[in-house]
Amino acid sequence: MKRKVIIDCDPGIDDSLAIMLALSSPEIEVAGITIVCGNAPVEMGAGNARKVLQFMNRLDVPVYVGAEKPLRRAYINALDTHGADGLGESFLPEVEGYRTDMDAVTFLRQSLMGETCSVIALGPLTNLANLYKEAPDAFARIEELVSMGGNYKSHGNCSPVAEYNYWADPDAADIVYDAFARQHKKIHMVGLDVTRQIVLTPDLLEYMYRLDAACGAFVKKITKFYLDFHWEWEHLIGCVINDPLAVAYFLNRELCRGFEAYVDIETDGISIGQTVVDAYDFYKKEANAIVLTEVEVKEFFYLFFARLLHMKKEDLDLIEQIVK
Ligand code: RIB
Ligand code: CA
Repeated sequence: MKRKVIIDCDPGIDDSLAIMLALSSPEIEVAGITIVCGNAPVEMGAGNARKVLQFMNRLDVPVYVGAEKPLRRAYINALDTHGADGLGESFLPEVEGYRTDMDAVTFLRQSLMGETCSVIALGPLTNLANLYKEAPDAFARIEELVSMGGNYKSHGNCSPVAEYNYWADPDAADIVYDAFARQHKKIHMVGLDVTRQIVLTPDLLEYMYRLDAACGAFVKKITKFYLDFHWEWEHLIGCVINDPLAVAYFLNRELCRGFEAYVDIETDGISIGQTVVDAYDFYKKEANAIVLTEVEVKEFFYLFFARLLHMKKEDLDLIEQIVK
């Protein structure tokens, strides 16, 4: 039975890889892609989503434009990381004639008031916070929310303590986590503690290309800028692909392990955007999150390659040699 999913994202290089993985996975039906301002301005993000859908030959998947700025903070993009076009300066041609006149929150509301639907959130949570404010009943019908965001013990990527998605719009993250607490539900928090372990290396890129030249060439094209960024800023050979892990985890919960905890978001001051994970129950509040801290890296790449490259598992033996 396919599970209906809406991907809320800010494409974005790793968002694009996540969309590719979701579209290559028969377990899920991507009902639509909602775009939020984040890595790239929202219209650029929508255009990038359409470019990925074009490559995947899935222009049937609708794209809806959402928030163009955070709830309160000034909008700060991450084009320094994702390139001037938000897609690794691949400068792929725009996919015209594809605009929908429905906005992201309306699509989320209508979808959620229909059949059961989950959300995989790969960007700031602004669209989901707006959904909660406008249609709390629809928000309450989210079957599962998997959010790439936050961090427990891993250091931040926008400040010593804050991860971009929640730092970019901390008020939205605070509203969404608080809403889950009120509804006695738990967000699956796929944070930097696990995503930092998912490094797409030149070896793995070459492996992709050798096994599927078209897919490998596309992934190489959109990740080159990201590889350069990681070398320049972290002296890392490879690039951390955060968002595909959220999709992979949605597909297979065995990929990550963690613990339940009450999570609150700092919305001001020096630690703005920090996920305050109450691992030792100081606040005596019911858990509103499953905080993931361990990941099966090899198993992730098996899944990622098997789906994107349409491969049988036995053809993936080389991964044993190249995934550290
Ligand atoms: O901090 C990493 C997250 O922020 C990823 O989702 C990346 O795409 C950006 O949105
Ligand atoms: Ca993202």
